[in-house]
Amino acid sequence: MTSKTVAQLLKADFKSEDIDIKGWVRTFRANRFIALNDGSSLQNIQCVVDFENTDEKTLKRITTGAAVHIKGQLIESQGKGQSVEIQVEKIVILGDSDPETFPIQPKKHSFEFLRENAHLRTRTNTFSAVMRLRSTLSFAIHKYFNENGFYYMHTPIITGSDAEGAGEMFRVSALDPKNPPLTEDGEVDYKQDFFGKETNLTVSGQLEAEAYAMSLGKVYTFGPTFRAENSNTSRHLAEFWMIEPEVAFMDLAGNMDLAEDFLKSVLKYVLEHNREDLEFLEQRLLDEEKSKPQADRSELNLIDKLKFVIENNFKRVSYTEAIDILKDSKPNKKKQFKYTIEEWGTDLQSEHERFLVEKHFKCPVILFDYPANIKAFYMRLNEDGKTVRAMDILFPGIGEMVGGSQREERLDVLKEKMRALNIDEEELWWYLELRKYGTAVHSGFGLGFERLVMFVTGMGNIRDVIPFPRTPHNADF
Ligand code: 4AD
Ligand code: MG
Repeated sequence: MTSKTVAQLLKADFKSEDIDIKGWVRTFRANRFIALNDGSSLQNIQCVVDFENTDEKTLKRITTGAAVHIKGQLIESQGKGQSVEIQVEKIVILGDSDPETFPIQPKKHSFEFLRENAHLRTRTNTFSAVMRLRSTLSFAIHKYFNENGFYYMHTPIITGSDAEGAGEMFRVSALDPKNPPLTEDGEVDYKQDFFGKETNLTVSGQLEAEAYAMSLGKVYTFGPTFRAENSNTSRHLAEFWMIEPEVAFMDLAGNMDLAEDFLKSVLKYVLEHNREDLEFLEQRLLDEEKSKPQADRSELNLIDKLKFVIENNFKRVSYTEAIDILKDSKPNKKKQFKYTIEEWGTDLQSEHERFLVEKHFKCPVILFDYPANIKAFYMRLNEDGKTVRAMDILFPGIGEMVGGSQREERLDVLKEKMRALNIDEEELWWYLELRKYGTAVHSGFGLGFERLVMFVTGMGNIRDVIPFPRTPHNADF
């Protein structure tokens, strides 16, 4: 008796074998054919029930969503659509599923409805495919760094510093919210809080990763990060996962090379390992886009799009060049952008980024050397005194996928910058000491994991690529 998964059974060339399998009923047709799924594959395995020799009560309990245990024979299929099937000899209902109330019926459900049923949505083909891909991508990321000499480090989730400035933070406190201790000035006295100071959930592990890069050489983090911005968009989450490599002795050019090689490598890995899920999602996207006007449809199918990114160089463009392109662009001249680009120094909005990648270059673009005053304090100042060695990687359909930079390694320049921005030196004393003892050129970047999963799966809303999304006014499940 073998206990194999559906994926293994469908792949195997063995026949006439004793089978023992557990899974969930997707459909039960003609009182005879169960489509059984156990999560191991997009495909169901057909299980043929000998209904004449199965009692009526049991037959009635074989309903969509029920968990069942089946014993039988794996045989060559008599019907079309599958090569093997299971001839059921014994079926035990492990868990009933009332067909009147089970939300996931064998029909098309809207993504909004499925979000409200996020605990059950992986019982569908789309969400099980997305989440299998998400898992494979995570593995591919760890594999890439492991094979390239990086150490995986865990940076703190709770942070006592709010200096990074990457976004609004969520406070972490153990004080009684109804009756907090107050200072003489009537402010909440965080000295009496759990950590003896104000603490928040982290927006990034970068600063701590820098400390480790400056001793272990090459490190990366892959963990949850939290931002309390009220951005209710299809690309923002309040809790998302970020991958942040940080490398000593690497400059901005090396950082771009690393990011590009890394992205191509993980895309290649999923193409090789999750073909079936990708093909399914490609078809889903085609069906979805049928209802859109031609101009809004993707030029490439999902898999060709992934191949295109793997096979072509990312376009590297300085912020200054990008501004020139945008200034001269049709939508800018015709005032079709919500924010018209008038002068050097303005921050790019997502409409501008999307114009550059989707209309102008039609490929992933690495924008670099941004104006210092629109980027974080820690970025390395260029010799021109007004730009910093920052880079953002923009992807078609996604916008900003990666944000990174070469870090300011000169103590005096960093201190000067912090003074100008009113960042407390005492709070970041340890970060400054990294510049005092054995400082060196170093760089890193942050990749928003869910944005990568969106790109790979072709899903249009970031809420549909993370198991239980956290967004403004939503922390269910
Ligand atoms: O550009 P960001 O803010 O960069 C940092 O946090 C740096 N400390 C990274 C580094 O250099 N180590 O964020 C990095 C990436 C963005 O490019 C985007 O892909 C993603 O994180 N991201 C979000 N993803 C989902 N929801 C949000 N609210 C996000 N904010 C940023
Ligand atoms: Mg950014």
